[in-house]
Amino acid sequence: MKINNAERDAVYKTIFARRDVRGQFTEKNIEEDVLRRILTAAHHAPSVGFMQPWDFIVVQQQQTKALIKEGFDAAHQRSAEMFDKQQSSQYQQFKLEGIMEAPIGICITCDRSRNGPVVIGRTINSQMDLYSSVCAVQNLWLAARAENLGVGWVSIIEDAVLRSALAIPENIDIIAYLCIGHVSHFKDKPELESAGWLARRDINNVIHFDSWSAQSNNK
Ligand SMILES: Cc1cc2nc3c(=O)[nH]c(=O)nc-3n(C[C@H](O)[C@H](O)[C@H](O)COP(=O)(O)O)c2cc1C
Repeated sequence: MKINNAERDAVYKTIFARRDVRGQFTEKNIEEDVLRRILTAAHHAPSVGFMQPWDFIVVQQQQTKALIKEGFDAAHQRSAEMFDKQQSSQYQQFKLEGIMEAPIGICITCDRSRNGPVVIGRTINSQMDLYSSVCAVQNLWLAARAENLGVGWVSIIEDAVLRSALAIPENIDIIAYLCIGHVSHFKDKPELESAGWLARRDINNVIHFDSWSAQSNNK
């Protein structure tokens, strides 16, 4: 199957228009068939040895979300203390989650023992299963964008909070907690870029040819 130019352009458009969304969620629920499509896209991510180590926990209950939000608030406060004074005050102004506002949350996990101890491709680099679950996150993120749904990754939270709120067994690794929903609008740029926190790096400074130390194209 060949991808035609219009289809190619749609993929790039989706990649560049994807944003991490925290503050623009609306109350509209996600249609069941749409949710199924984005989860199916996630389930079709590449995985080491075709291990498919992920599970997806869809969080709909406000009560469960409230537990997660509480965990975020505590972690967020502790995080603010890690920055220097000036950065800390800017950090505290950012909205870094949309846990209660998003109609659903999705926790993506990694079962590192799935399909037995020896996995093709994970024999030497043991983290490859974790990376596979991250690939599922990205597939879901892009599929959601193609459905005009916003996704926000909430990482400022202790695993123990998610484990307890979602009854995740000890042998299962937690990869991501995502907030997902319809949005009022998508921003053109990352919020941290617009706020002057960090700029997008020049692509020429991150591409190397043949070795790390070789001059990149345009330094
Ligand atoms: C692994 C990972 C964890 C992240 N955790 C958070 C988070 O806890 N809160 C938040 O507001 N954004 C989080 N983000 C979003 C990033 O800040 C965002 O991707 C980055 O600023 C670029 O913006 P964009 O995704 O809109 O292009 C996370 C992104 C990734 C990939």
